[in-house]
Amino acid sequence: MKSKSTENLTIKYNELTAYQFIELWETVWGARPSPEQTELAMKNTLFRISVFDGGKIVGMARMLGDLGLDYFIKDVVVRPEYQKMGIGRLLIDELLNFVRKNGVSGTNIFVELCAEPGKIPFYEKFGFDYDESQRLKLMCKAD
Ligand SMILES: CC(C)(COP(=O)(O)OP(=O)(O)OC[C@H]1O[C@@H](n2cnc3c(N)ncnc32)[C@H](O)[C@@H]1OP(=O)(O)O)[C@@H](O)C(=O)NCCC(=O)NCCS
Repeated sequence: MKSKSTENLTIKYNELTAYQFIELWETVWGARPSPEQTELAMKNTLFRISVFDGGKIVGMARMLGDLGLDYFIKDVVVRPEYQKMGIGRLLIDELLNFVRKNGVSGTNIFVELCAEPGKIPFYEKFGFDYDESQRLKLMCKAD
């Protein structure tokens, strides 16, 4: 698949739908999130980017945050047969451009993410560095 070109790919801003999100999610992580939760997540995401080859979604990423102090990168996914072509780099570049354009001018802004151990070298390419914090998780059941 390395012969595929990124030239004909289409980039879309803030158009990623719950349906597209779930479709791409399943290509890498299996068990799908619920459509209702995903609809809300799309609606309340600061910035969504999606990449298409024709009608097929091949990449996505989103930025959560408050536009002031905190930005958090989530759900960076490239369809397996389209990986190692530069789409992941395109996604992260777009997310960081969003911070530069929307952050309070002249301030330093923390951009955070949680990476699987095998993906840390990918993020290090953009200057991300890990610290001593550990991710704590709790599955909380809604009433
Ligand atoms: C991680 C992921 C988004 C990378 O996307 P990609 O399109 O393959 O990345 P790119 O082709 O743009 O690669 C950009 C650079 O990172 C490198 N890279 C990509 N994946 C890497 C990895 N797992 N480890 C080390 N380097 C990696 C590439 O070699 C390339 O380096 P170069 O610019 O020096 O040549 C993709 O593998 C993916 O979607 N994985 C499954 C979902 C996932 O795990 N998401 C991240 C959750 S933490």
